[in-house]
Amino acid sequence: MGERKPGEKPPISRKVGPQAEAGADGSQPLLEASGVTKVFVAGGERLTILNSLDLTVERGRSMAVLGASGSGKSTLMYLLGGLDRPTGGRVLSKGRDVFSLSENELAHWRAKEIGFVFQFHYLLSDFTALENAAMPLLLSGMGREEAYGLTEPILERVGLSDRKGHRPGALSGGEQQRVAIARALVMGPEVLLADEPTGNLDNRNASMVNDLFRELVTERNLSAIVVTHNERLARMMDACMEIFEGRLRPWQGQ
Ligand SMILES: Nc1ncnc2c1ncn2[C@@H]1O[C@H](COP(=O)(O)OP(=O)(O)OP(=O)(O)O)[C@@H](O)[C@H]1O
Ligand SMILES: [Mg+2]
Repeated sequence: MGERKPGEKPPISRKVGPQAEAGADGSQPLLEASGVTKVFVAGGERLTILNSLDLTVERGRSMAVLGASGSGKSTLMYLLGGLDRPTGGRVLSKGRDVFSLSENELAHWRAKEIGFVFQFHYLLSDFTALENAAMPLLLSGMGREEAYGLTEPILERVGLSDRKGHRPGALSGGEQQRVAIARALVMGPEVLLADEPTGNLDNRNASMVNDLFRELVTERNLSAIVVTHNERLARMMDACMEIFEGRLRPWQGQ
């Protein structure tokens, strides 16, 4: 297995194709989109938003994804996080096709492996910052004391120790987004997917969240994909790509 026939070229792309290429030693990409296509049908018209897109999320690497409004950035994030199914192609997690999992297994995989941060924080207004950030642990069946014990240091790390009893309505936009970041981290994911995490913040808060985001990716050796229009945040990532005509290409911005 894995041997090449005489004359056959070694794989030159960092995009990994067949599962057979990868070993069982942790060398498999954490997350991979292979020939992913997404077609929406709206008003009787077929819209091909992603067109045989390839992407490999490498361990400990961060990538910004840019692109015009409507180019398919959010669509890509949903597919990578198993929140929506591609029309064609596969999303692989450590070599395993995530859409071959049962709904239950998929939900379990998502909770364990993927941390999501969205433009809108989606915090629950009746719960405190601590409860909101601990929610994935509580939903996984962990007892309150243990869940809060794991969550408090993360809230402290995002600078919110003194706000943990506050409900979202009593937090600033930047603080709300920092709670959402803490919530994305409590399960200890290896992959962080963020869709315009600073899109809803003023400059000062955006800047603070950008810096925090970059620091956390490094500290926790996370693989991160960040959709952003914020060029400063994009430049903090290891690589900058953009979606153009349904595929990824190196960002053409300055
Ligand atoms: N459920 C759906 N049904 C039909 N069309 C959809 C659906 N979801 C998304 N689209 C279309 O797919 C295209 C890509 O949408 P997407 O939300 O991925 O764009 P985006 O790059 O994230 O844009 P933005 O920068 O504005 O957030 C858009 O033209 C959108 O209208
Ligand atoms: Mg979007």
